[in-house]
Amino acid sequence: MKEKILNKERKNRNPHFVNGKTTVLPTNLPTENQVGKITQRIDTEDNTTKNPHTKRVYIESYGCAMNFSDSEIVASVLSKKGYTTTTKLDDADLILLNTCSIREKAEQTIRKRLEKFNKIKKTNKFLKIGILGCMAERLKNKLIEEEKIVDLVVGPDAYKDLPNLIDEIEKGQRAINVLLSKDETYSDITPYRLNSNGINAFISITRGCDNMCTFCVVPFTRGRERSRDPQSILEELNDLSKKGYKEVTLLGQNVDSYLWYGGGLKKDFHKASEIKKSTAINFSNLLEKCAIKQPKIRIRFSTSNPQDMSLDVIRIMAKYENICNHIHLPVQSGSNKILNEMNRQHSREEYLELINKIKDIIPDCSISQDIIVGFPGETEEDHKQTLDLMETVKYSFGYMYKYSERPGTVAQRKLLDDVDEPTKKRRLQEIVELQQNHSLIRTKEFLNKVVEVLIEKTSKKSKLYWSGKNNENTVAVFPKENYNVGDFVSVKITDCTSATLIGRAIGYSKNN
Ligand code: SAH
Ligand code: F3S
Repeated sequence: MKEKILNKERKNRNPHFVNGKTTVLPTNLPTENQVGKITQRIDTEDNTTKNPHTKRVYIESYGCAMNFSDSEIVASVLSKKGYTTTTKLDDADLILLNTCSIREKAEQTIRKRLEKFNKIKKTNKFLKIGILGCMAERLKNKLIEEEKIVDLVVGPDAYKDLPNLIDEIEKGQRAINVLLSKDETYSDITPYRLNSNGINAFISITRGCDNMCTFCVVPFTRGRERSRDPQSILEELNDLSKKGYKEVTLLGQNVDSYLWYGGGLKKDFHKASEIKKSTAINFSNLLEKCAIKQPKIRIRFSTSNPQDMSLDVIRIMAKYENICNHIHLPVQSGSNKILNEMNRQHSREEYLELINKIKDIIPDCSISQDIIVGFPGETEEDHKQTLDLMETVKYSFGYMYKYSERPGTVAQRKLLDDVDEPTKKRRLQEIVELQQNHSLIRTKEFLNKVVEVLIEKTSKKSKLYWSGKNNENTVAVFPKENYNVGDFVSVKITDCTSATLIGRAIGYSKNN
């Protein structure tokens, strides 16, 4: 079975959207041929000016939300270099691919895309092509050697160097910067919002990850974990509010691990002075500051790691109405043996205890998952434990993957990728089906209830319907009447599928 997206009416601004993965989620995804790729579009028409001397950059982003967010930083850096963005490949002087390495399939997609660009380059000898992001970081020079058409290779921490690197390639040289940084958070750069509906935006709060899950390439491609100055986060939030945005998602590989003590790596916190330690700001503090600063803006965050999530965060969520009741809490496996081999720092029991505590504090909090099937050594019994854990939690939605061995990871070096492909496929199919059943149970819980929906766009299925999300991150559609994009509307839910709530508006909600 080919991994495929289960519901075509979904969108890929979801923080966890990564190409090639099977998802059961309550958001609107693109059609299948758009999966994993968002060509950036500008919210005004096309900001390509008519000046023939202006350089134009076309940016295509793949992978997680952090990459999409990074592309907005890249667009901002390049605008200072005189570049405007274009949505038309043929108009571009520079094509940038912001890439993902999380699974092998993600990298194959990029290689195929480069073949297409190669053809364009043959007809436009001035065209330059650059690879950004995780694949750039992972493959470094090799990328230039292997992909002859690539002029530029830039890792996730080197985007401020783009103007210099572009000077190099304009002289006909190839340029590369894949240095990882201890302190780069791009806090001084105002992202240029790409592909935006003017309503939802990402704010990146941490970079990198220190967790070293044995299957994961992220710690190698995005470096050590560091947190961004809370002041700059709040300024970005205020700026978004002024521009009319209504919902922000605080982004990080592991947001619960956020820790600001004046700058520096998370792992060096113990070396900080007593005063710095005592005035440090953790994730629950940051969340509270954001909620207070902009009480009319909905706040979401992603991703939470069970080992780092604190009850303070849940309490702050409960305390402020504008923090949404949804936690993306990847579990990866329901088997303690596999969790241990994955170097996840919690057991199945601890995870379930955390879920219970969340439900004690926020009874209707929706929870979503990431699960990997076919990790090395996963037996039928381990797989059953994953299914069993899913039965216990009944997640609202989830992102499920077949294990993909990644070069350089501990799993690749020490463990045998010994679950055969048909077994991986079958197990994936089983968890996906179970998740669909659970998603339906969860959406049915909203039947006959009134939920607050933030209108994001016209529904893909009907021009007469709006599409938005409720507080718990479930998509809801309803007849447009006189409402507009960006309105918070009270919607009575009358019907549902496993991914979508269907209802009718009964008035503006009090958040307007
Ligand atoms: N903390 C991150 C996780 C990044 S990777 C976040 O912010 O989302 C997203 C998901 O990809 C992981 O939770 C995991 O389920 C999956 N994944 C990571 N490495 C993988 C691999 N080698 N094979 C299959 N799935 C993988
Ligand atoms: Fe990867 Fe684990 Fe960090 S999944 S991003 S190493 S929390």
